[in-house]
Amino acid sequence: IPVDLFDLVVFGGTGDLARRKILPALFKRFCSGQMADGARLIGASRRDWSDADYREFVRKSLSEFAGELALDRSLVETFCRCVHYVSVDANGPRGWDELSGLMVADRVRAFYFSVDPGLFSGLSMRLQDHELMNEQSRVVVEKPFGHDLETAQALNAELAQHFDESQIYRIDHYLGKETVQNLMAVRFGNMLFEPLWNAQYIDHIQITVAETVGVDGRGEYYESAGAMRDMVQNHLMQLLCLIAMEPPTFFDPDAVRDEKLKVIRALSNVEPHHIVRGQYTAADGATSYREDVDNPRSRTESFIALKCHLNNWRWAGTPFYLRTGKRMSERDSEITVVFKETPHAIFGQEAGRHNNELTIQLQPDEGITLGVTIKDPGPGGMRLVDVPLDMSFAEALGPSADSPDAYERLIMDVIRGDQTLFMRNDEVEAAWAWTDPIIRGWQARGDAPKPYDSYSAGPDDATMMIRRDGREWRGVIN
Ligand code: BG6
Repeated sequence: IPVDLFDLVVFGGTGDLARRKILPALFKRFCSGQMADGARLIGASRRDWSDADYREFVRKSLSEFAGELALDRSLVETFCRCVHYVSVDANGPRGWDELSGLMVADRVRAFYFSVDPGLFSGLSMRLQDHELMNEQSRVVVEKPFGHDLETAQALNAELAQHFDESQIYRIDHYLGKETVQNLMAVRFGNMLFEPLWNAQYIDHIQITVAETVGVDGRGEYYESAGAMRDMVQNHLMQLLCLIAMEPPTFFDPDAVRDEKLKVIRALSNVEPHHIVRGQYTAADGATSYREDVDNPRSRTESFIALKCHLNNWRWAGTPFYLRTGKRMSERDSEITVVFKETPHAIFGQEAGRHNNELTIQLQPDEGITLGVTIKDPGPGGMRLVDVPLDMSFAEALGPSADSPDAYERLIMDVIRGDQTLFMRNDEVEAAWAWTDPIIRGWQARGDAPKPYDSYSAGPDDATMMIRRDGREWRGVIN
């Protein structure tokens, strides 16, 4: 079903994010018939390009990042007819009259700030000065949303001068991932899980987001961010919110975001001995982090593992273990909910200890597995084994289960005007308010990250941290 007629203006339209994600995502939605006739993509950047130059850029981006659909030349060409380009200066007058002239009344306008946050202010001012915002206009902003609480507050204040909060869409692309949304469907669409979803029945919860890639040419940004700012403050925090939040009254933007905010505010401070920072070293022919960022003395972490608690009724006493890193042995993102053992073992000691586990796998494949304990078949008495009750979405739902890329979903939500999967100002600030003291703590102590081999499971200290609690990391990385 086509969504409303729209113009999507991408500032930073010639940049990496546009090339890799935004353009292919919009093209795929176009192929699924969601772009109404007359809807347009308008690339905007400083480069002195024509429509034809930009269309060529779009063709290249699609052939590289849009998969098989981009082999259909006629589809690509029809899409390219919806593509336009304006050369604009975020901090000067150039191009703005032209952009204004291109705008058509009575349609949704989405302005995507795929640029350095330093340009948000110039862009916002000029959008307002040229009266480009109407009731149907939205702005989309990308991370990093601030470097700490203070800078995030300043950015929010800057945006608030020009736009209403209901017009601001802060992207965390993890929220666009199909299984992440499924987390809410599984929790709140089934009677089965929710009664057990608390400290009484759940022993602990783990969230792992492991990547095999290194910092890949983003050294300058990453050096000032590190894994804590790059991944934990946003992506892992969002996963934690969805796994731990109370059921919202409705599936509507503010109801969901109110509940997420309560989770972030309930996070306790993290004890220094509950944090392990790591930095990858050269191994298996791969370069070290320090070589990648060209700083032989860097103390930035490319890995972090931490244990935290939520100070609320539901979760008092249940630890949450979070871990993320680059150059790890596998690409693996998953959440594991480990239930407690049964209160009384009727099958005796030899039957062993068993915990039910619910694993929500986000990457590389998507699916949900419930580990249940059954009798080991055969005449040998009541021996127990754990087997998975498996739900691979692709198998269960057939080819239609092909998950759209996160950006496809999120861009269409912007057009539809649905903010549920976007972060609100107070949420971002609360996340920084929790992150800042942790970072300040290790800076004050002068902690250096622990080295770990590229393509390994991360520093041994991370394994020791969870073992001290009598637990183990789950999943393929342990
Ligand atoms: C980005 C981070 O937000 O997320 C990157 O800046 C990281 O460092 C990426 O690689 C991971 O996203 P995904 O979707 O590949 O898991």
